[in-house]
Amino acid sequence: MSDKTAELIFGPDKQSLPLPVYKPTLGTDVIDITSLAKKDIFTYDPGFMSTASCESKITYIDGDKGILLYRGYPIQQLAERSDFLEVCYLLLNAELPTASQKKQFFKTINHHTLVHEQMRSFFNGFRRDAHPMAVMLGVVGALSAFYHDSLDIKNPEHRELAAYRLIAKMPTMAAMCYKYSIGQPFCFPQNKRDYTENFLYMMFSVPSEDYVLNPVLSRALDRIFILHADHEQNASTSTVRLAGSTGANPFACIAAGIAALWGPAHGGANEACLNMLEEIGTSANISKYIKRAKDPEDSFRLMGFGHRVYKNFDPRAMVMRQTCHEVLEALEIHDSPLFRVALELEKIALEDDYFISRKLYPNVDFYSGITLKALGIPKNMFTVIFALARTVGWVSQWNEMIADPKRRIGRPRQLYTGPMQRDFVPLDQR
Ligand code: ACO
Repeated sequence: MSDKTAELIFGPDKQSLPLPVYKPTLGTDVIDITSLAKKDIFTYDPGFMSTASCESKITYIDGDKGILLYRGYPIQQLAERSDFLEVCYLLLNAELPTASQKKQFFKTINHHTLVHEQMRSFFNGFRRDAHPMAVMLGVVGALSAFYHDSLDIKNPEHRELAAYRLIAKMPTMAAMCYKYSIGQPFCFPQNKRDYTENFLYMMFSVPSEDYVLNPVLSRALDRIFILHADHEQNASTSTVRLAGSTGANPFACIAAGIAALWGPAHGGANEACLNMLEEIGTSANISKYIKRAKDPEDSFRLMGFGHRVYKNFDPRAMVMRQTCHEVLEALEIHDSPLFRVALELEKIALEDDYFISRKLYPNVDFYSGITLKALGIPKNMFTVIFALARTVGWVSQWNEMIADPKRRIGRPRQLYTGPMQRDFVPLDQR
């Protein structure tokens, strides 16, 4: 894997240490620094700005060019020509399925959509006004208490079964969170429907009425799922890998990923972005908010703008923008004030030197919030939808890590700047 070395010169006597340099199939060369610890040398890299934490074959991002590939396929092609379950198969198995593999995969996932009956009473322990992400954290972690036959992480069949269960049950549990919060009865999945239709059906159907599905809306949501399915070593995926490196079971690891996703700097940004657009309200207020975003003394940031990796347009944001138009058209929302504010905000920010010089472009969350709102999905469910879609990415990355013979427990070092060793002072002498 390494045909080059980098030379590290260190210490007062200028010792030299050759470090292997790995060439990726795409992207920047990576220096292997694992041997440094043996020389009692550690590196300092808060936020992993310069550190590759693993080797992976799943997803590739070129942040400068605005490229996102799942298993080599560009996200735009997958969003336009594939569907979410096919993308799940691709992420899990590294190749697109044949027609018969696709049919079998759909059947397998559908077979696992129901949750254990005992889970229904589990929901009753939560307050009705709990944030759905709080409930998701609890119920996904609780799956490990229900499915003992898929907890042996050393057994590939157990891992596969856990992956199917997680992908299949997430929509059911997400819809249950919503139904519980509004006091409506839970709605069982109907396996004649496809994955995304089933989710919309479980979210919005009531026993007293027929449910009529708008295919433009289910296609739009399916696209949102595809766009959010994986994103290489982001904060929540790294959390899943770190939790998994200890040998924790997959349900517990995915619950850890959900916790990390919840924050407004990550998956919580779509909800925060819609709150911000609602707060701005009209075009007249935009300049005030742009001024605040640029003020170093003000902690306010333009939600839905900026990304650690993309220093160009987020390719998912471009697909999302188009999808957003299609949904507003299908619903005959011709004059959405929110969308108008979003478009104007985008235009102004893209022309402003503060944003240009820092390479702050709209990210996927900038448009996904408006689209989800138009689909009738309440704001506090946005991050749950993200978690639902990202589950396949988390599971694929977790599986890749467990199957890697080089796997070790994730255990970073630190730069200690606390007190020197000192003696305990008894209470009466302090
Ligand atoms: N609004 C205003 N200024 C910003 C923004 C923003 N949204 N994002 C970054 N900046 C500024 C910072 O203040 C900083 O300015 P400085 O150089 O003058 O100090 C500079 O741009 C670099 O920002 P960092 O915080 O160093 O960038 P980092 O890579 O650490 O942060 C992040 C990335 C967290 C996404 C950030 O851009 C942000 O908070 N954006 C808003 C939240 C958001 O939309 N998150 C969703 C991310 S996508 C996802 O998870 C699906």
